[in-house]
Amino acid sequence: MKKWFAVIGDPIAHSKSPNMHNTWFNEMNIDAAYIPIHVKSEDLENAVASLKILGASGWNVTIPHKQTIIPYLDELDPLAEKMGAVNTVLHLPDGRLKGYNTDGAGFVHSLEEVIGKDKKNQGVLLIGAGGAARGIAFALKQFGYHNLTITNRTVEKAEEIIYELGEGRALSIKEADQLLDNFGILIQSTSAGLANSEFKLPLSLEKLQEGAIAADIVYNPLMTPFLLEAQMKNAKIVNGLGMFVHQGAIAFNYWLGQYPNTNNMIKRLTAELSS
Ligand code: ATR
Repeated sequence: MKKWFAVIGDPIAHSKSPNMHNTWFNEMNIDAAYIPIHVKSEDLENAVASLKILGASGWNVTIPHKQTIIPYLDELDPLAEKMGAVNTVLHLPDGRLKGYNTDGAGFVHSLEEVIGKDKKNQGVLLIGAGGAARGIAFALKQFGYHNLTITNRTVEKAEEIIYELGEGRALSIKEADQLLDNFGILIQSTSAGLANSEFKLPLSLEKLQEGAIAADIVYNPLMTPFLLEAQMKNAKIVNGLGMFVHQGAIAFNYWLGQYPNTNNMIKRLTAELSS
């Protein structure tokens, strides 16, 4: 029987996930389909029950349902449990629903594709302490990056993540700015770089280390104000597209046990977003 998958969120029309997964199904000769479904918060419980009854093999979960879907799942992968957020659901053969979070691991895969796996001892500065930052912080720890500092406009939120991680330190934006030359890897996870938000860098980058790596989780636009500024200061930059593609590829692998071609997809979406 044809398998089918979905992404649920509100809004959902602009999601690039259906295009990405359907392309992979075609490339890999998998008889499956992936559709976007607009689900409002008040309909989430019914939507999950419907997806189950209608036999979806799995689905992605995006804003605003990543946390609120948890009570409707039967089992959580340990990392998703720590993160308190789910972006991938697997409908198991026995009918149970298992939640995963592939966002953080997707980010680390994307980072390591560009910088390699030998920079785990570098000082990492994570800017932002929202849902995305939380996922990345836990994934960094899992992948062996133990020299983590989190800075955030609201420093208490950074302290909270550090407390839950059980390692690392939290700094105010001002402190992080002053100590910037201590960090080899900077990760921008705030919404300050989003297309429609007011242009404002979360921190100044004045003391950016020579040869530092600067990564952003935003992929539309591909070149954020943060990456532009970092590039001008000779940093090696990593845009957010790789994270998007790899979070999808890891989800695809949970559903189907095969890893799709991420390089071609990154090239294809880069061309689309650059035109
Ligand atoms: P997400 O799930 O995408 O991470 P979020 O949980 O709403 O979204 O978190 C948004 C992050 O962007 C937070 O770290 C937020 O800082 P605060 O915790 O102080 O609110 C940060 N942020 C949003 N707009 C910002 C701005 N203009 N300057 C600096 N930080 C900003």
